[in-house]
Amino acid sequence: MKSSLPHQFDTACIHAGQHPDELFGGVSVPIYQSSTFAFKSAEEGAARFSGKDSGYKYTRLGNPTTSALEACIAELEGGGIGLATASGMAAVNTAYMALLGCGSHMISTDSVYGPSRTLMEKEFSRFGVETDYVDTSNLDKLKAAIRPNTKLVYLETPANPTLSITDITEAAKIAHTAGAVVVVDNTFCSPMLQRPLDLGADIVLHSMTKFINGHSDVVAGILVIRDKTLAARLRNVLSQTGGTIDPHQAWLVLRGVKTLSMRIRVAQENARRLADELVSHPMIASVAYPGLRTHPQYKLVEKQMKGPGSMISFELVGGVEAGRILMNSVSLSTLAVSLGGIETLIQHPAGMTHASLPREARLSAGISDGLVRLSVGCEAYEDLSHDLFSALDEVRRQCPGESTMSVTG
Ligand SMILES: Cc1ncc(COP(=O)(O)O)c(C=O)c1O
Repeated sequence: MKSSLPHQFDTACIHAGQHPDELFGGVSVPIYQSSTFAFKSAEEGAARFSGKDSGYKYTRLGNPTTSALEACIAELEGGGIGLATASGMAAVNTAYMALLGCGSHMISTDSVYGPSRTLMEKEFSRFGVETDYVDTSNLDKLKAAIRPNTKLVYLETPANPTLSITDITEAAKIAHTAGAVVVVDNTFCSPMLQRPLDLGADIVLHSMTKFINGHSDVVAGILVIRDKTLAARLRNVLSQTGGTIDPHQAWLVLRGVKTLSMRIRVAQENARRLADELVSHPMIASVAYPGLRTHPQYKLVEKQMKGPGSMISFELVGGVEAGRILMNSVSLSTLAVSLGGIETLIQHPAGMTHASLPREARLSAGISDGLVRLSVGCEAYEDLSHDLFSALDEVRRQCPGESTMSVTG
C-alpha cells in the first residue's frame, strides 16, 4: 500500500508487505521462482556481497516473494524483522542453534510441541546443551529453574494439548533478569489473538503450516524479532543451515494469510459454541478451552489474548476405547493431525500420535486415555455440531454405563 500508516489487523493481513508488481502491475505478488539473481556488472555483484547494495543475490539468502511474506507477518506481529523458514521446526531449530551452545541451559514449557522437545533431547543434548522442562504457567517453578547459564526461556502458550496458559509478561521479566532470551511459539494463537513481542518476548515463532496459511496445503514457519542484532544472528544461522522457505511456498502462505482474520473469527465462534455444548454432554468428563469461564487461567486469557481461539481438548468418559469409537464415528470432521486449517480436524492422541509412548509417560505429559483434540474449522456450525454430537451418541451406545458427568477445565 502507498500509505505507511499502521493499518487495522484485517487490512494488514491483505496488504502488509505487498505492493502491485512494478513491471506489469500484477496485484498479486509475483512468485520469483529463481534460485539466483543476475548482477548488471562485476561492481554490482561486489556491492551486493559487501552489503553496500541490498539487492538479491541467491534465494537461500533472500528472495523478493519471501521478503513480502516476511514483511507481512512481521507487521501482523506488531513490527520487527521476519525470517521465513521451510517449516515450523526449521524456525525452532534456528532459534535453538542461534541462542544455545555447549554449556548453556534452556528452560522450556513442559508440554511443548513434541518435536521441539525431541530436537533438544536427542540432538542438542549431544552438543552439551542442558534443558529443564517445567510447567511455565507456574511462575515460581520457572523462577526456581533459572541457572547462571540459562540462555533461553522457550514458552509455548496455550500449551498443547492441555491449553494451559503462561503469563508471557511475567515470564519475560524473570528471564530477562537472568539475562536469558525469551522465545514464544505463537502457533496456536496466530498474531490475531496474541502478540508476544508486545508482551515482552524477544522472538516469536510460528508453524505457518497452521493458522497463518490456514489451508492444510503448505508446510512453513517464521521467526519475528525486533532487536536488529538478534535478528542478524538468526538470519546467519538460517541462511547457513539452509532452512529457508521456497518462493512458491512463501507465495502460497501470502495467499492464505489474506483471510486469516476472517477464518479465525468464524472458527473461534464455532469453537465457543461447541465448547459450551460439550461441557454438558454425558460422555464428556472435562473440556479444556480458554474461552470457558471455568478455565483455570480465564483471567489471564482475558488479559493476554484477544480471543480464546479454536482449539479444544476434551476428555471422553470411556478412555481409549471411547476415543477409538469417536474417531470412527465422525464423518465431517477429518481424522488427521495438524491444526489451524479451514476444515475441522480431530485426533485422539492416546490412540494415534502418542500411542507408542508408555502410558505413564503419556499421562505425565497431560495426555490421558480419553483425550481428544479438536481443531475447529469454518464449516457451518449446525453441520459441525450435528457431526460431533451424533458421533458422541454413538460412543454412548457402544460404551454403555459410562455416562456420569462432569467437570470443566
Ligand atoms: C505448536 C507447534 N509448533 C511447531 C510445530 C512444527 O511445525 P511444522 O510441522 O510446520 O514443522 C507444530 C506442528 O504441529 C506445532 O503445533
